[in-house]
Amino acid sequence: MKFLVSSKPLNQIETDAVIAFGFSDSATTEEKLIDKYFGGMASQLRQAKDFTGEKNKVRLVFPSGKGPRVVLAGLGAKAELKIESLREAMSAACQALKGLPVKTVSLLLPSLPKFSASDSSAALTEAFLLSNYEFVYYKAPEKDKTRIEELELISAAKSSQNAIRSGIKFGQILSEAVIFARDLGNHPSNVATPSHLAEHALELQKSHPQIRTKILHRAEIQKENMGALLAVSQGSDEEPKFIVLEYRAGRKSQPPIVLVGKGITFDSGGISIKPSDKMEEMKYDMMGAATVMGTIKAASKLKMPVNLIGLIPATENLPSGKAIKPGDIIRSRSGKTIEVVNTDAEGRLILADALDYAKKYKPSLVIDFATLTGAIVVALGDDLTGAFTNQENLLPKLKAAAETTGEKIWPMPLEKDYEQFIKSDFADLSNTGSIRYGESIRAALFLQNFVDYPWIHLDIAGTAWATREKPYRPKGATGIGIRLAIEFLKKFGK
Ligand code: BES
Ligand code: ZN
Ligand code: ZN
Repeated sequence: MKFLVSSKPLNQIETDAVIAFGFSDSATTEEKLIDKYFGGMASQLRQAKDFTGEKNKVRLVFPSGKGPRVVLAGLGAKAELKIESLREAMSAACQALKGLPVKTVSLLLPSLPKFSASDSSAALTEAFLLSNYEFVYYKAPEKDKTRIEELELISAAKSSQNAIRSGIKFGQILSEAVIFARDLGNHPSNVATPSHLAEHALELQKSHPQIRTKILHRAEIQKENMGALLAVSQGSDEEPKFIVLEYRAGRKSQPPIVLVGKGITFDSGGISIKPSDKMEEMKYDMMGAATVMGTIKAASKLKMPVNLIGLIPATENLPSGKAIKPGDIIRSRSGKTIEVVNTDAEGRLILADALDYAKKYKPSLVIDFATLTGAIVVALGDDLTGAFTNQENLLPKLKAAAETTGEKIWPMPLEKDYEQFIKSDFADLSNTGSIRYGESIRAALFLQNFVDYPWIHLDIAGTAWATREKPYRPKGATGIGIRLAIEFLKKFGK
């Protein structure tokens, strides 16, 4: 995709479409430009109520079949404008252009005092790239399909061109990382195996000079006494991998932030097998891993001055004659024993070993990303990530980051009284109890047994996968969490 920045007058544009935004309570300067060069078109559409500026409502006009098509996209009420409104309106505009023979698009950058030119351009670039994402690896190419190849951002203010360029760059880097994660999640589990994740992690080291990758294979995992990861993997013919990514661009004395990602490349449930309905979606049970890889990729491309470690326990969860069985007792890396009451509660097992491994970095913070529980989907739906933390003063910062990136989070409690439900009669811990209520909290409480540092646990089971089209998130893996993590890291410690 090619990006151009200019301050061309509209009669000089040569693109196939031009996008402009409008509010529901007032016309914008850009609409006036459309009026000036297209015979009062924007005002006429407003008068006819064909365009109202209502949030995410779009009108596309192709006046006489020549020149550019004009797309007007609604931002909603001016006073309620958020940076996310820009992404959503841009996504709606891209949707309107889908299927049309449009290769090049001009975008009239809205002049919004509320946001810097760089932030607006970044948001619009993200929405543009992420809306046009398609996962096409396994489909015969569609004949005669036109794809957008070029976006020209037009701003009358020549002085903001550098800011616009840096915004585009930021948006491109983040979108590339999100797309990288989406691809990992959309590949089927016969391709996206633990080894496949490891290969991509090694590839990150090759293409990003600041990233160091280390892969622990079975023997090293054994040496590390990661009994929980080994136990989950023992039903599978695929070798487990423990992936370590290091990106150190912060001060040497600065303790790192560790990102941990659940990397179950397929979750059948194991012997406690899942019902077959929607089981095919369980290829996305590695989106925590993809989020960690994508975040470190983006941080490195942005040259962020931080020290980051990524830890990814990766395995399949399958039933077989060798698989762990309900009632089995395993010894985790920490030394704590776990009774595996349900083999489908495998995420917390592999995370237990990773969270324990994280201790050796003496981290200032650990954030884990995990498609951990079906219960979080019941509680919060597919738009909100459940956020648990032992450091509640971090929540406002996380919420602020979520506000900016449009990846909503909702605080969840580490309710002490529920600890009784993960006690076992036979081992130090049970991986789930006999009462099936409050499972997301229980899972988080289980993880808490393996941390001794400031910690945030993000249960992304509902948000990592879209079963319905959402603005700039087509169906399938969403790549949620990467933009959130980068935004949070920008502010963390400040
Ligand atoms: N990977 C699942 C959680 C999940 C469910 C992710 C739906 C995405 C969508 C996890 O490993 C799991 O199976 N959890 C069980 C735990 C239960 C057996 C205690 C669950 O949530 O039902
Ligand atoms: Zn499971
Ligand atoms: Zn799982």
